[in-house]
Amino acid sequence: MVKIGIFGGTFNPVQLEHVEMVKVAIKELNLDKMVVVPTFVSPHKQGEEVVNGKYRVDMLKLAFEGVNQVEISSYELEKGGVSYTYETILYFKNLYPNAELFYLMGSDMLENFPTWKNPEIITKNANLVLTSRLGGGFDDNALTLAVKNLYNANVLKISFVGKMASSTLARTLRKLSLPLTNVCDEKVYNYILKNNLYAPDSVYEFVTKMLTEKRRYHTAMVIATALKLCKSAGVDKKKAELAALLHDVAKYQNAELYPEFFVEKGVPSSVIHQFLGAHIVKTILKITDVDIVNAVKYHTTGRPNMSNLEKLIFIADLIEPTRNFTGVEKLREAVFNNFESGFAISVNELYKYLKNSGETVYHLTKDCAEFYKGENYDK
Ligand SMILES: [Fe+2]
Ligand SMILES: [Fe+2]
Repeated sequence: MVKIGIFGGTFNPVQLEHVEMVKVAIKELNLDKMVVVPTFVSPHKQGEEVVNGKYRVDMLKLAFEGVNQVEISSYELEKGGVSYTYETILYFKNLYPNAELFYLMGSDMLENFPTWKNPEIITKNANLVLTSRLGGGFDDNALTLAVKNLYNANVLKISFVGKMASSTLARTLRKLSLPLTNVCDEKVYNYILKNNLYAPDSVYEFVTKMLTEKRRYHTAMVIATALKLCKSAGVDKKKAELAALLHDVAKYQNAELYPEFFVEKGVPSSVIHQFLGAHIVKTILKITDVDIVNAVKYHTTGRPNMSNLEKLIFIADLIEPTRNFTGVEKLREAVFNNFESGFAISVNELYKYLKNSGETVYHLTKDCAEFYKGENYDK
């Protein structure tokens, strides 16, 4: 029987791990064909900035050049409207009535599987193939079992594990005028530039001017981390992105050049940029959302009684993937397992580290650690 894989997604844009994943799936499942299906409007991602289907198809063609089994299907794009997986599966079942179908999905999508439209039609007509992602803090065993039992599903797994790349990261790097090396195929990157896709807005342009390339890369990682943790922190995506983008805006600014900016004496130099950053956000960028201003203002020290957004930016800054201080892995794990307690643990570990390092510890850092010790932190 002919074996056909189906890989749906927004591909906004297609990134290197998509290609890797497809290659692994073809090999491990022994597929004769893999159909890649860009979505018209994903029911899970409505409201995101998605570029026109024509661009996404062109980029897919460039990215999969040379992978012979791959076929790019415009089925969902041409159909228009909201694309539901069960309809796509039925379409291909109809097209290839004698084939065995394999539907590729991220294991983190299993959680919402019961809320998909007609999940039983999907599992009746296709095998589910799970791929996983590092640092998702996601244990899929129980869910896999539940989906198997509930829908009589055949659930398989391939050995591919996604690491750091994501379409969100690709868009963020591009908006911060950074190369997409290791995230997108070079041909795809050139196509993005040529067609001016995912172009930066004025705030991204402002931040790009204020920061070095290295700091912009860190900022991109903070944005990507904050977006991953949004849901567990209970924060709106757009707010998380903006606050993360702005958090280090004053990192290289000289406070003396801002005559209206005052800071009390004795604030350690490593802390000043959070206060100056909040000043710049308010007075130059004219951002009036107090929560965003405060997320910038306390991202280094924390403070007692922080809002969800403040906690999110503090944590994303501390544990983003390029941070490599001793113990960071443990903090990442704690935060991805349980945001609230992971935050409390992180605040206290940071305070302990600063105290032992002999550096001056700013009072807000101490106040913050003490505040979250009683509430959430179990020594
Ligand atoms: Fe900072
Ligand atoms: Fe930072």
